[in-house]
Amino acid sequence: MKQARIVLGVSGGIAAYKSCELVRLLVKAGIAVDVVMTEAATRFVGPATFQALSGRPVWTDLWDARDAKSMAHIELTRGAMAVLVAPASADFMAKVACGLADDLLSTLVLARRADCPLLMAPAMNVEMWQQASTRRNMRTLAGDGVRLLGPGSGDQACGETGDGRMLEAVELLGHVQALAAPKVLEGRRVLITAGPTEEPIDPVRVITNTSSGKMGYAVAQAAADAGATVCLVSGPTALPTPAGVTRIDVKTAHQMFEAVKAQVAGAEVFIAVAAVADYHVKQYSEKKLKKDERHPGLTLELAQNPDILAWVASQPGAPFCVGFAAESHDLLQNAEAKRKRKGIPLLVANQAQDAFGRDDNEITLIDDTGRHALPRGSKSSLARLLIAHIAELLPPT
Ligand code: C5P
Repeated sequence: MKQARIVLGVSGGIAAYKSCELVRLLVKAGIAVDVVMTEAATRFVGPATFQALSGRPVWTDLWDARDAKSMAHIELTRGAMAVLVAPASADFMAKVACGLADDLLSTLVLARRADCPLLMAPAMNVEMWQQASTRRNMRTLAGDGVRLLGPGSGDQACGETGDGRMLEAVELLGHVQALAAPKVLEGRRVLITAGPTEEPIDPVRVITNTSSGKMGYAVAQAAADAGATVCLVSGPTALPTPAGVTRIDVKTAHQMFEAVKAQVAGAEVFIAVAAVADYHVKQYSEKKLKKDERHPGLTLELAQNPDILAWVASQPGAPFCVGFAAESHDLLQNAEAKRKRKGIPLLVANQAQDAFGRDDNEITLIDDTGRHALPRGSKSSLARLLIAHIAELLPPT
């Protein structure tokens, strides 16, 4: 098999030092890296550093005459799995959003073919990130099919704090590995629920839970990376839509149920990751509830919500159904009972207090053949393992 290769574009930003580590990790993962630097990038890290880490020549100049027979701005992306620009400065992204090509990196981005996706890991000061012009460029890039990875949030090199930090090298490695993921769900239709639901009490109050949606979104991304057509029905979250995924936003369990009913026809896999509220408030108050000094207590009467997963699993010709069980105690016994009760072939068990809101998780897959414990890992890496497991259990098309 030909070795996987990517083009790593480095534009001018202090986060360029993290890209050195990224090259090391990519090479270690067996992925060849051709580094292309802008002039500004070379002010932060020397080309020799990238050359030593990648073990390949580094490219900085559109007029480089090293290889007289080929043109670097054309040849480098041919056969490459992707172009990843990390760090992607505000200036470089503005350039790509406009289709400019005035140095080697911007020119090869413009000259790449459709089979070579462009990924960008923004890195800049928080004010630059929030500037209207940057926001507009981000929308343009996303609309053009560019995959934006991050940025993260936190302390910045300039001393300020906020959005704009480049993702860590290990996270970027995960995204590249995802691209290289085997297309085990090619041509399959997958429906996924994610996030919490919100059950209204009055116009401004809701009953909800602390689900962040991270696991469901990671599963949606992993399914899309595996070649599936993915529809994600999501409760309220603060997460960006995974690349290549169609997202339908809902709030209540009933809305989620209606959206699933509308989308389930033709789906071959249904993965219910959402933490659906078990109950809704029976008497929604059109008026905001007032504090009543005479009654120190308040009783809300609740009614049960439909069980979306059990409903899908009970339909004739149901898709392959996967459920999640978040339990605070007796995890595996409860999870096994839940799998039987819901009548589903695969259930993912996780400890509730471990799973909610965090970036990593520890899960056990339970199917007809028994329990399969997966080692603790990031939600994205676990999602990829889950998708691989589902693909093995799916009946052939
Ligand atoms: O019964 P429990 O809520 O613990 O089951 C969890 C699993 O069932 C999850 O996969 C969840 O998405 C799904 N579920 C559902 N509809 C509900 C409740 C749970 O689809 N109303």
